[in-house]
Amino acid sequence: MPNPVAKTRQSNAPTNHRRTFAVKLRPADSEDSNDIWEWRNDPTTRAMSRIATVTSWESHCTWFAAAQKNENKVIYIGTEGETDAKIGMVRFDIDPANNVAETSINLNPAMRGKSLSQPFLALAAEKFSHYFNGDLVAEIRSENSTSIRIFENVGFVEHAEEQGMKKFRKPSRAR
Ligand SMILES: CC(C)(COP(=O)(O)OP(=O)(O)OC[C@H]1O[C@@H](n2cnc3c(N)ncnc32)[C@H](O)[C@@H]1OP(=O)(O)O)[C@@H](O)C(=O)NCCC(=O)NCCS
Repeated sequence: MPNPVAKTRQSNAPTNHRRTFAVKLRPADSEDSNDIWEWRNDPTTRAMSRIATVTSWESHCTWFAAAQKNENKVIYIGTEGETDAKIGMVRFDIDPANNVAETSINLNPAMRGKSLSQPFLALAAEKFSHYFNGDLVAEIRSENSTSIRIFENVGFVEHAEEQGMKKFRKPSRAR
């Protein structure tokens, strides 16, 4: 399995989205830790997350340091092509036993509402498919209609709904 951290910055190729956006992608590094922590504690993010509590800086630092060393956790930062402003993060948590990777996206609150999430998720899934060849899965709150729409547009298919969470799967062959 190649090391995702060794991957270099990459501009986006056109996605199957009807518009092409200048979204760039790179692995998250320690300089992104504070932003990832702030985005995670955004009220909308917490409302859409399984764990709604505020994460302390200390707890985040422990989590982020472990994540950086974990080859089964891949975090990409998206940036806007022209300005290099951070769009947000997409995280893949590989479950080796089931050969699937849990997928989640969290945008920088300042960059929401600009139709950047779908091209960012599509680019991240494409990049990640060179590192991991199992299916992608996602669990999204049933009321999170924006997120459901972008995941479906990127090829995730709903297969179950339990306790207010819709479950999605994107077969590796579809990537
Ligand atoms: C979910 C999230 C990634 C979406 O990003 P966003 O910047 O808010 O949404 P976008 O501007 O990219 O919009 C995505 C699409 O949904 C549409 N949309 C946006 N808000 C909408 C709404 N309230 N109702 C219907 N459609 C909506 C947009 O028009 C856009 O469609 P288009 O690309 O065809 O124009 C972002 O809000 C976020 O990070 N939320 C918190 C974390 C989260 O919920 N993660 C998902 C669970 S893993």
